[in-house]
Amino acid sequence: MTMKEYGVALVTGAGSGIGQETAIHLAEKGARVIVTDISEAGISDTVRKIEALGGVALGQRLDVSDPDDIEAAFAAAERWDKCVDILVNNAGIVNIQTFLEFTAKSWHQVMDVNLTGSFLCAQRAARDMIGQSYGRIINMSSVSGLRAGVGRTAYGTSKAAIIGLTRQIALEMGPYGITANAIAPGPIMTPLIEATYSEETIARLLPMIPVGRFGSCSDIAEAVCYLASPKTGYVNGEILTVDGGYASAGMTQTGTLDLAKGKNK
Ligand SMILES: NC(=O)c1ccc[n+]([C@@H]2O[C@H](COP(=O)([O-])OP(=O)(O)OC[C@H]3O[C@@H](n4cnc5c(N)ncnc54)[C@H](O)[C@@H]3O)[C@@H](O)[C@H]2O)c1
Repeated sequence: MTMKEYGVALVTGAGSGIGQETAIHLAEKGARVIVTDISEAGISDTVRKIEALGGVALGQRLDVSDPDDIEAAFAAAERWDKCVDILVNNAGIVNIQTFLEFTAKSWHQVMDVNLTGSFLCAQRAARDMIGQSYGRIINMSSVSGLRAGVGRTAYGTSKAAIIGLTRQIALEMGPYGITANAIAPGPIMTPLIEATYSEETIARLLPMIPVGRFGSCSDIAEAVCYLASPKTGYVNGEILTVDGGYASAGMTQTGTLDLAKGKNK
C-alpha cells in the first residue's frame, strides 16, 4: 500500500490499547496518522513507536468530549495540506455499577465520551470529507452493544447507540463517498479489560469464546484497516463483530453433546 491510498487518519484514544495498535497498523499501511488522546504520555509513546517503524505521525491532545479540542485536532491535518480521510472513533471509557445504583453523573460521563464524542468527531470529519467526496469513519462499538452485561448500564447502552449512530451516518453520508462502519470487539486484552475483569471472570469467559482465546489489539487493528481501505467503499453501515465467535453462540455454547442420549452434557 502507498501513502496516497490511505491518506490521513485521525485516531482517538490512540495512546493505549486498541487505539495505539490501530494507529500503528494504519501507519504501516502508509497513512499519516494524527495520534490523539487525553494522555500526553500515551500520545508520545504511540508517535515514538510509529516513527521507529519509519511511519509518519503527529501527536495532538484531544478530549473527545470537548468541541474546542476536536476543532484543534482536525485542524492539525492542515499541516499536511489535507483533511482527515479516515476517522477512527476509538476513545472509550467504562464505569461499572449495578443498574439500581447507577448515578446520572456516571451515566453522563460515559455517554459524553463514548457516544457524544463519537458523534461530534464524526460530524466534524464528515464536514471536511464531503469536500473531497471521500472518507472512512470507523466507530468502536462492542459486543456489549449487542448483548447485555452486568454493570454495563451506561457502557452497553452507549455501545448499542454507536451502532445506531453508525447506520445514521452511513445513510446520510454514503451519497458523498463517505462510508461509516462499526467494529464490535469481543474481550480484548487491554488496560481497560484488566481494570474491569477479575481473574474469575476471565476464567468463566474463556470457554464461551469459540476460538479459545481473548482477542489481541492487533485483531481489531486489522479489522479497522480493512474498513479504512480505499478498496472497501461498498462496505457501508456494517457492524463487524471481531470476537472469536463469542456473539454467534447461544444458550448451549459451553459443554459437549452426549451423542448416545442426544443431549447436552
Ligand atoms: N478491550 C476490550 O475488550 C474492548 C472490547 C470492546 C470494545 N472496546 C472498545 O475499544 C476502545 C478502546 O478500548 P481499549 O480497551 O483499548 O481501552 P484503553 O483504556 O486501553 O484505551 C482507551 C484510550 O482512550 C483514552 N481516553 C479516555 N477518555 C478519553 C477522552 N475523553 N478523549 C480522548 N481519549 C480518551 C484513554 O486515555 C486511553 O488511551 C473503547 O472504545 C472500548 O470501549 C474494547
